[in-house]
Amino acid sequence: MRPEGLPVIDADLCTNCGRCVAVCSTDVLVAGEQRPAPDGPTPCFVCGHCVAVCPTGAITHPSMNPEHFRELLPWDDGVDPRLLFDLLRKRRSVRSYADRPVSEEDVMTLIEAGVQAPSGLNEQSWHFNVIQDPDRLAHIRRRILAIYVSLLNMLDGTLSRAMLRLTVGNHAIESLEEARPLLNNIIAKHHDGQDRLLWDAPTLMVVHSPEEDPAGTESAHYAVSNIMLMATAMGLGTCVVGFLTAVAERDRRLQELLGVPPEHTIDAALVIGYPAEEYLRSVDKRAAAIDFI
Ligand SMILES: Cc1cc2nc3c(=O)[nH]c(=O)nc-3n(C[C@H](O)[C@H](O)[C@H](O)COP(=O)(O)O)c2cc1C
Ligand code: SF4
Ligand code: SF4
Repeated sequence: MRPEGLPVIDADLCTNCGRCVAVCSTDVLVAGEQRPAPDGPTPCFVCGHCVAVCPTGAITHPSMNPEHFRELLPWDDGVDPRLLFDLLRKRRSVRSYADRPVSEEDVMTLIEAGVQAPSGLNEQSWHFNVIQDPDRLAHIRRRILAIYVSLLNMLDGTLSRAMLRLTVGNHAIESLEEARPLLNNIIAKHHDGQDRLLWDAPTLMVVHSPEEDPAGTESAHYAVSNIMLMATAMGLGTCVVGFLTAVAERDRRLQELLGVPPEHTIDAALVIGYPAEEYLRSVDKRAAAIDFI
């Protein structure tokens, strides 16, 4: 739930410049003779834009900690677009990890980067579960594999395939068939002691949000994107684990292992660790389909 409350304007500090009114997307702040007032007809988003833009520091918001509004670097000292581009190019899905843990402090920095992302209606409804216990990670891996083994077995029986089709639909059956060679390989490698699901990474992060937030999943993806880029900047590697999210929604036992309550949607999962290999160059991404309309 988004916190409530309205911004408070200090009459002694306000110069009535109007900047806060200009950035208030929901028109909560209304211009006035002396100073703006939070008299608009819509609820406040608690987005903090008014506080962030005020040149005299006249605005505070009861639901936001003033210490969390940090001074930004002057733009001249800011990010060189060439360096940012290099960071974007440098991020890879890392599938080979060094035997080195990720500290709690680093995880907290990643999450702090994550929550700078935009979120639908500023709900910020994301929850981050961080799993680092090797036994639990092994348990999670085995559970995911068991689900896929069972699904593949169901595909092979006439009756069970028909029942599966009824439950998950045609499209999911086709996707499973398409993924079958990959899944068979993941299962075979598991029996050889190799982890093709969580890639033997020391950390698994699962992002989940309340079902009632219609933009929860989309927002979580933006947070994960921030996390992946921040991780790259910190010398860490990440890899999205779609094989987990694809089945977690239907398996309560897996949700329990991941620490996700039943009324939440599992939006994303990613593994994090120190890369064992260094990528020396970026890759060739396909030309994007672009239409200027
Ligand atoms: C939605 C989604 C699901 C993914 N699931 C997996 C996965 O289960 N296992 C895996 O190794 N990589 C997974 N990936 C990583 C992609 O395979 C990877 O992004 C793609 O091959 C391009 O490589 P790059 O990330 O290094 O540019 C996933 C990526 C996305 C966006
Ligand atoms: S931005 Fe600050 S100084 Fe300007 S009108 Fe709003 S409260 Fe007053
Ligand atoms: S916090 Fe956001 S929505 Fe609320 S008054 Fe300030 S700018 Fe407007």
